[in-house]
Amino acid sequence: MDTGFTGNRRVVLEKIDSTNEEAGRLAKSGARHGTVVLAKEQTAGRGRRGRSWYSPPGTSIYMSLLLRPAIVPGQASMLTLVAALAVNGAIEEQCGLTPMIKWPNDLLLKEKKVCGILTEMSLNKDAVDYVIVGIGVNVSQSEFPEDIRGMATSLEKESGSSVDREGLIEAILKHMDGCYARFLAAGDLSGLQQEYNERLINRGRPVRVLDAQGELSGEALGIDPAGELLIRQEDGEVKSVCAGEVSVRGIYGYI
Ligand code: BTN
Repeated sequence: MDTGFTGNRRVVLEKIDSTNEEAGRLAKSGARHGTVVLAKEQTAGRGRRGRSWYSPPGTSIYMSLLLRPAIVPGQASMLTLVAALAVNGAIEEQCGLTPMIKWPNDLLLKEKKVCGILTEMSLNKDAVDYVIVGIGVNVSQSEFPEDIRGMATSLEKESGSSVDREGLIEAILKHMDGCYARFLAAGDLSGLQQEYNERLINRGRPVRVLDAQGELSGEALGIDPAGELLIRQEDGEVKSVCAGEVSVRGIYGYI
């Protein structure tokens, strides 16, 4: 199935506030499904949970995919996991590194973050108008600002060899085409669940999840077909957590 990312319109920019913002502006002016926005630098890169995303020039991949999927709003958070698996596969193919996934969408190398994904949805009368999947990959930074130094790494830092950014971008789009098609065919993550769980760093580890309802802790078992994280609590009861605005922590730290 041609889902359009590899062959569709590319908008390539030197510098922009945020590729997600730009993709949103293009979406509002009618840009089509599969439009890809890329920039060498972001002046106001955004992360999840209202955080900023460190976006210096020329060291990273900053890209946003505009999707116009025929899905209901409740399915949109699954796209974050689809993208995580796609980027994971692309890094493996291009760099020979095998990142692990911290649910729902951080990619880690040696337990440090190498990629973050920010998925944003726009509704029109309760229906999905468009979804933007923003992907930030740390490619060649050798140093990070002090506040994220302990948690962040880059592909080149971990592999010790140079990474072809263009090649990696093409690979991400190709893997996204494949993973997105598998998601659409099933209507959920059942076709990707096993692959995702094999790469899930939280699996079998104690986690603590904070959401609007409060705190939940236990052992992470893996994701279900909806992409929810299954957690076995101390009393044996298994609860699922939706990949929305939640924060997952290991009992002892970031993982
Ligand atoms: C996170 O882990 O907090 C998500 C980070 C997402 C960063 C990317 S970089 C490209 C796109 N544009 C943005 O402003 N954010 C996303």
